[in-house]
Formats: sequence, C-alpha cells, structure tokens
Amino acid sequence: MNIFITGAGGYIGGSIAAALIERGHAVRGLTRSQASAQRLATSGIEPVVGSLDDTDLLADAASRADGVINAANSDHAAAVTSLISGLTGSHKPLIHTSGSSVIGDDARGNHASDAVFDEETPFVVHPGKQARRDIDLMVLGAAAAGVRSIVICPSNIYGAGRGLNPYSVQIPFLASNARERGIVQIVGAGRNLWSNVHIDDVVDLYLLALAAAPAGSFYFAENGEASFGEIGAAIGRRLGLPGVESVPAEEAARHWGEAKAYFSLGSNSRVRAVRARRELGWAPRHRSVLDWILGELPVEMPSTPPSA
Ligand SMILES: NC(=O)c1ccc[n+]([C@@H]2O[C@H](COP(=O)([O-])OP(=O)(O)OC[C@H]3O[C@@H](n4cnc5c(N)ncnc54)[C@H](OP(=O)(O)O)[C@@H]3O)[C@@H](O)[C@H]2O)c1
Repeated sequence: MNIFITGAGGYIGGSIAAALIERGHAVRGLTRSQASAQRLATSGIEPVVGSLDDTDLLADAASRADGVINAANSDHAAAVTSLISGLTGSHKPLIHTSGSSVIGDDARGNHASDAVFDEETPFVVHPGKQARRDIDLMVLGAAAAGVRSIVICPSNIYGAGRGLNPYSVQIPFLASNARERGIVQIVGAGRNLWSNVHIDDVVDLYLLALAAAPAGSFYFAENGEASFGEIGAAIGRRLGLPGVESVPAEEAARHWGEAKAYFSLGSNSRVRAVRARRELGWAPRHRSVLDWILGELPVEMPSTPPSA
C-alpha cells in the first residue's frame, strides 16, 4: 500500500512510518521543513513539504494514497477536513490520532479518580477538550461519506520512538525538566492516574487498524496505568535525583502552559482498550511504564524539553 502520513518525522508518525516501510509499504510523509524532508528521504519516506494548513496539498496527497494516517496534531480541525475531502467516497482508511486527555478531568494532580472509560462508556469531556472531541466525532462521521474512518486514542505513550523525534510528550518532558532543575517536579500531589502504552504496541495497533478496522471505529490504546507521583519517583531514581517536588497546578501552568499543567500532567485519564483487543486481536506486549523508566529511560536527554 501507499500510505500518506502527517507528522511523519514525529514520535508517533515516524514510528508508524518505519514499521510500514519494514513491511514493504510505500510511505509519503508531510513535514514543514526542507531539512526534515531530507532526513525523511534518507529513511525511505517520500517527503511532502507543507503544513497542516495547506488544504489543497493535504486533500491531493490523501486522494492519491491508499490510506492516510494523521499523526501530526490531534487538535487541528482544518487538516482533518482536508484529509476527509481527499478521501470522500473512496472507502479508503483514514486513521486520526486523538489523545486520552480528551476525557481528562480537572484534578490538578491532587486526587485519583474512580472514573474509567472504555469505548462504550459515555464520555465526560471537560470544556477545554471539547474541540478535540469534536474533531474525533468529525472523523467518525466521515464513515457516512464513504471514508473508512478510524480514531485511535492513545493514553500516555512511552518508549523510544523510531522517527526523527524519538521522544514522547509527558515522561521525556518531566525528565528533561528534572535534569535542568536537579529535582523531579510533578503537578500537585501527583495522585492523578494516567493509563499508558508502549510506542511499539501503539504501532501494532495502527497496523491492525489500517488492515481491518471498520469504518467509524474508535479505539483507546492502553496497557496499564500509574500515578504521576509513581512516575516522578521512578524518574528520580533513574536519574539519581533526590525526592519529588510538588508544584501547584496554577504555578505549573504559568511555567509550562495550561494544556500541559492541567491536562497532560495534572488530570486523571484512565482508559481501557477493550475494543482493540476484542475486535482487532491487539495484544500489547509491554506492561509496565515504571519498569521502562527504571531500566530504559535515556539518562541523557535533550536540554530543551520536547514540546507538548
Ligand atoms: N506522545 C504521546 O504520548 C501522545 C499520546 C496521545 C496523543 N498524542 C498527540 O498526537 C500528536 C502527535 O504526537 P507526537 O508525540 O508524535 O508529537 P511529535 O513528535 O511532536 O510529532 C508531531 C509531528 O507533526 C508535525 N507537525 C506539527 N505541526 C504541524 C503542522 N502545523 N504542519 C505540518 N506538520 C506538523 C511535526 O513535524 P515537522 O516539524 O517535521 O513539520 C512533528 O514532527 C499530538 O497532537 C499529540 O498531542 C501524543
């Protein structure tokens, strides 16, 4: 197959691209910079230079592909509209990447929630995440327009990626920040729970969905959960740093931005990937984010934390 991927140099998109190429598929990948385009070409990806705002370019690239994976940005509605328009009536697959902060709450790190969501659970969406939910619904609705549309909603992804950016969002940020400050900082008391999933298992799920997911399907991706207090303590041990420092969410928001403080690091986001296991036979292999941090989190990290 010939697959068009947005975010082809990113952590998620790059990892999927590498796996597709290994399996003999052709990959065209969107990137904004000529420098990244050259690096993508070296990895066997045909670069498409442009941005998510390039409506015609996205629609054209989608229409010429056998399938599309949108892994650049979970919150860019215009890009999704363009990709759908390029695929309308084709019955080809469009996999959109959402993220499980879509059901994140406002715990600000201070309590663990009992709320656990699988694909059948009625969603409770914080107003700050309604726009993301609306994009997910737009993708699912494209099934009615002849697109085999699929939303994959990963939780906190960990593990080394295979794209130009090998780092995920949450844990590498906490680790980079800890190295800079000499102590691990977490939001609030760190009692909030997030589900998590290894990048290799995420890639497996995308490949299964590309091959067999029915039109209009939504899948969570998770295989375990941990509190941010536990994650912070494990990062501290791995990096040889003392203790974990609690930062009030409001202060964290001033330093790190509201999305990161209130949702990525301060909310509860507890999900169960029931449908992917049942319907696609997805069998994630990696079970413990804490073991990964203690044994495999790179001790040397970039001095500038990856962006959220
Ligand atoms: N990592 C996680 O744990 C996780 C979990 C759930 C959901 N998500 C969401 O999934 C999305 C991708 O995450 P990621 O971790 O793979 O991020 P990433 O490593 O930063 O990759 C995103 C890639 O998208 C490209 N991109 C960004 N904005 C673009 C634009 N306006 N036009 C064209 N390309 C653009 C960038 O490539 P160029 O710079 O080459 O253009 C970048 O390499 C994000 O929205 C993230 O919030 C992430």
